[in-house]
Amino acid sequence: MGAARNYAVIDPATGKLDRRIFSDAAVYDDEMEKIFGRAWLMIGHESLVPAPDDFFHTYMGEDPVILTRDGQGRLHALLNMCRHRGNRVVRCDDGNAKRFMCTYHGWTYRNDGALEYVPGEAEAYYDGLDKSSLGLIEARVESYAGIVFATWARDAPSLEAYLGDARWYLDTVFNRRDGGMQALGPMKWLEPVNWKTLVDNCSDNYHVPTSHLSSARVQTRHIGRPPLSHEDQFASPNRHAFVNGHSITFRDADDGVPRFVHGMSKDTMRLFQQYHEATMPEVERRLGLFRARRVQLGNHSIFPNGILGLRLALPRGPLKTEFWHFVLVDRGAPDEIKRALRIGSQANNGAAGMFEQDDVDNWRQVTLASTSRLGRRHPQDMSMGLGHAGPHPDYPGHVSERYISENNQRLFYRRWEEFMNAESWTQIPLDPITARFDGTATMCG
Ligand code: FES
Ligand SMILES: [Fe+2]
Repeated sequence: MGAARNYAVIDPATGKLDRRIFSDAAVYDDEMEKIFGRAWLMIGHESLVPAPDDFFHTYMGEDPVILTRDGQGRLHALLNMCRHRGNRVVRCDDGNAKRFMCTYHGWTYRNDGALEYVPGEAEAYYDGLDKSSLGLIEARVESYAGIVFATWARDAPSLEAYLGDARWYLDTVFNRRDGGMQALGPMKWLEPVNWKTLVDNCSDNYHVPTSHLSSARVQTRHIGRPPLSHEDQFASPNRHAFVNGHSITFRDADDGVPRFVHGMSKDTMRLFQQYHEATMPEVERRLGLFRARRVQLGNHSIFPNGILGLRLALPRGPLKTEFWHFVLVDRGAPDEIKRALRIGSQANNGAAGMFEQDDVDNWRQVTLASTSRLGRRHPQDMSMGLGHAGPHPDYPGHVSERYISENNQRLFYRRWEEFMNAESWTQIPLDPITARFDGTATMCG
């Protein structure tokens, strides 16, 4: 780092990571522009705005954004900033409205962003105001399987190219059923952690048997989850894959057992197994045999701040992150399964979730360490699995040999460098799409 703003924070040969990126205010300011100002950002889900004129208030980085569905059914992401003096034109979380009136002087916008009415347009402005140039600032919007993304960058690649081969894995959860998914929530809370710490944690299977030992023991005793041990993790055939900044962990399984999700227990397992078997013909048609039967998505992150399904890690300063935790469920799943997923998700990863408590305590300490002048002299060590990842014949992306590896973390910080050092999208590399997308599922569901 330095005055030239030339970021070199991860040493790919040793895995040493500069801690200053977790607390330095100038780095954070640069992130807002170079990462959150131009990456495709997950902002919500189509099911949050199902009807014409619905809106949902969300954020792109620190910027307040209104996700709207206009009268024609088209989605828009509009900066919640009146073009006059900057007042917010929406003050609530969601609703249904054809227009948004600014409560300062009354400028009124249509839900597609156009400025429609200005009090005193003839008298105060002498009919000289160019309303057509004063609509709400609009981001580009695209959806993947109902998940809505937006970017401020006109020169960004398509969302399809941005997700690249990561979609090959993501499809196995988010693009599984013909009827798509629905988002429940969100639950929101603030934590004194840097946003990158929890994104990097999405590929950290190493911490699970240690950090979550007590929570896992409770689950083993009360809901029958198999015990978690280091030995199991080290011997696991599961893997990590990395594509374009997106970190994937996945289970390589052909045992006909559904993917583990919070909400499964000895009481609900039979339901999940029946659902898995009943829907498998549809899933095979949509994803092809290999992905339907062999690939089970685990924890994952979508660059920069989309984590664990539909969960947003919204930056609120170098030392603060706002969590927005949704639960995504198959729209066509039986109510008992939706209920189990909703309760299980909150019990484990919500604000009071057992696993969340374990994780957040770690992230607070890791963030705090980066504020110490002495601590910053000593980089993080991310050397695990160096040299043990590469292309794989069956799985797209850069694939680790083991389930326990820091390969995805090293590549995440390298991707961070690529964004932070680039002047425009033309300087940000993208892996070509090479995976075979068997089956009928598309970007649109
Ligand atoms: S700030 Fe919105 S109308 Fe003046
Ligand atoms: Fe964890």
